[in-house]
Amino acid sequence: MSGPLILRVNRVSASYTGRDHGIFGKKTVKPVLDSISLEIREGEIFGLTGKSGCGKTTLARCILGLLPCEGEIIIDGIPARRGGNMGRSRRLVMARGVQAVFQDPGASLNPAKKIGFLVEEPLLIHGIGGREERQKQADEMLNLVGLDPSCKTRRVNELSGGQKQRVCIARALMLKPKFLIADEAISSLDVSVGAQILNLFRELRDRLGLSLLFISHNIDAVYYLCDRVAVMEQGRIIRTGNPVNGV
Ligand SMILES: Nc1ncnc2c1ncn2[C@@H]1O[C@H](COP(=O)(O)OP(=O)(O)O)[C@@H](O)[C@H]1O
Ligand SMILES: [Mg+2]
Repeated sequence: MSGPLILRVNRVSASYTGRDHGIFGKKTVKPVLDSISLEIREGEIFGLTGKSGCGKTTLARCILGLLPCEGEIIIDGIPARRGGNMGRSRRLVMARGVQAVFQDPGASLNPAKKIGFLVEEPLLIHGIGGREERQKQADEMLNLVGLDPSCKTRRVNELSGGQKQRVCIARALMLKPKFLIADEAISSLDVSVGAQILNLFRELRDRLGLSLLFISHNIDAVYYLCDRVAVMEQGRIIRTGNPVNGV
């Protein structure tokens, strides 16, 4: 792959702080990420695998700006910093930089709302488009992720696990990000449904030129989907390679 860089993670370290024996205990620092570096290019599907607890989700949280870290994270040329007092246009630039889908699609979606609203919501939050424009974009997005737009009037509990994950992917793509993080996005799904979602990720990459950081402890899925793979162990990347030539 030789396209422009979409993500640069340079010597990133992170730790969780807590306290021994409740709030009056001694402060403890638990190091989780130890100088991680990786790069993802435009249109690339990059796999991150490793045993549970090795720090994959922690790295995703750092990239999403949800957890402070040391080192450098640059998304599409812009240093990743969230929080603080940023203006609306800056917030949109950050939201377009990276979006994410997680393991449990049911928990990511508000059960009280209809699917149509949930898919339009990112546009509403960022004040993009009028009502008709938003509906048109939601229809197009539902088609793109393999759902019939007639599902817009249904609620989350009326959908299957695979359909819910497609709604989450649709929401994540509504702001047209160039880069998506999928953290254990197929781990709660049946094998055949998970395989369909993997094929959807590949289709989205081909049609939209999307870059993907695909995080999974399922090494078969990572090998099937990804152009390059990194293996993590105890907060470090211990191997990087190409699934065809062996990692
Ligand atoms: N909020 C937290 N507070 C303290 N420790 C945490 C927290 N979240 C995760 N950890 C610990 O950090 C390590 C890495 O966790 P995580 O990044 O979730 O791993 P993975 O996604 O690879 O399974 C684990 O030892 C886990 O127990
Ligand atoms: Mg995890």
